[in-house]
Amino acid sequence: MKEKNKGNYISLRESRKIIKENVRQMKYYESLKRRKLDISEYTVPMKNPDNIVEIEDLETCFFTDTGTVKSVHGVSFDVPKNKVVGVVGESGCGKSVTSLSIMQLVQAPQGQVVGGQIRFNSSELGYDDKGRKLAYDIVRTPTQEMYNIRGKDISMIFQDPMTSLNPVFTIGYQLDEVSFLHRPNLSKAEIKEYSIEMLKKVGISMPEHTYKCYPHELSGGMRQRVMIAMALAGDPKLIIADEPTTALDVTIQAQILELLRELQRTQGCSIMLITHDLGVIAEMADEVVIMYAGRVIEKGTVHEIFHNPLHPYNIGLQKSKPLITSSVSEPLYSIPGQVPNPINLPDHCYFMNRCNRCMERCAGAYPEMRQVSPTHSVACHLYADVAAENKPQSASGGSKKKKTPFAKNRVKYIEERRIEQRGAK
Ligand SMILES: Nc1ncnc2c1ncn2[C@@H]1O[C@H](COP(=O)(O)OP(=O)(O)OP(=O)(O)O)[C@@H](O)[C@H]1O
Ligand SMILES: [Mg+2]
Repeated sequence: MKEKNKGNYISLRESRKIIKENVRQMKYYESLKRRKLDISEYTVPMKNPDNIVEIEDLETCFFTDTGTVKSVHGVSFDVPKNKVVGVVGESGCGKSVTSLSIMQLVQAPQGQVVGGQIRFNSSELGYDDKGRKLAYDIVRTPTQEMYNIRGKDISMIFQDPMTSLNPVFTIGYQLDEVSFLHRPNLSKAEIKEYSIEMLKKVGISMPEHTYKCYPHELSGGMRQRVMIAMALAGDPKLIIADEPTTALDVTIQAQILELLRELQRTQGCSIMLITHDLGVIAEMADEVVIMYAGRVIEKGTVHEIFHNPLHPYNIGLQKSKPLITSSVSEPLYSIPGQVPNPINLPDHCYFMNRCNRCMERCAGAYPEMRQVSPTHSVACHLYADVAAENKPQSASGGSKKKKTPFAKNRVKYIEERRIEQRGAK
């Protein structure tokens, strides 16, 4: 067979080469996790001690037989203490992979965090000699040390409660296990009492009965509550809720969200809430991060994101929301086109081919994140000049237009790309 690469076709030879390279990479990253490190090697100072988590330039890849899937590509955002940060984005944009990276639970050995920092502001760590608050860099923290952080300081409510609960053990057994892990000094009877109390806290009406049930005997909403109870059992500082209400009807959804909000207020923890649902975000979140194809494209306060959407993708998302006032005769708006293939990501803006405000410079380098207000940033060339005006102290060369080989004829270039894509299909 010839080594010709026609569209998505991979020859046997190429496939072997990819597998060989993957094995090398996976072995390398796995060996890093097993290293015995001194605590000073995986603790770093926080940029802002009021944040519970700071994610900076996170890169997570999956080494697959068809190539490296760049699921998360230079993601940066902060989760402040006692706040709810909503993460929104299309299916497959890397929301779950970002959250799994924070927990060090990316499916290994194929999935590996290959770059960046995740700083977790743990109360167990003090200050460095310059008086800066120290944090764990989760990317470098050894697996053994992670057992003390995961579940206790950071816990997660997974996307699907049925697959996250073990079907062959009772709810009580599974809850006790978690409670016991974080409270090893308590007796068996005390642990049972604590687990029942947790079930009561999340609004389960017959906690003693539910304690003895198996997961299949509960409704979807009850299972979701059990997951929340498990997540809260260790008194976490950060709860990552990955689409906690997707499988539920709207009444239960509202109850679960209210419960999460209430618990966040009373326990004083932060929540990273992942969802597709902009309504949920508007109701729950204080700050919003919008992701697209593994990158953050806009972030700001909930007010800024909903009242002043900047990125054309965010504007499209807002338009695709069904409203009670929208006309039934008009079809609901949808953003045309598809997300690019994560194995072959282009160098230019990933949204370019779907964007209705595309310009010449969009065919150039990927737009950097630009700050348009102290809390609002966007990665779009449309706002390069606005961002430059807002940052008078920064270097003046920041917003210079980059001449690229593609930038000569935008319409021609886009047309060519479309023809290429059609050909590849
Ligand atoms: N185990 C895996 N092996 C290979 N690729 C994976 C794996 N897990 C995730 N990916 C890829 O990583 C990308 C991001 O996936 P992720 O699960 O984070 O999406 P998501 O934003 O959570 O989507 P959804 O809203 O549907 O849950 C996708 O392109 C997906 O195909
Ligand atoms: Mg997901």
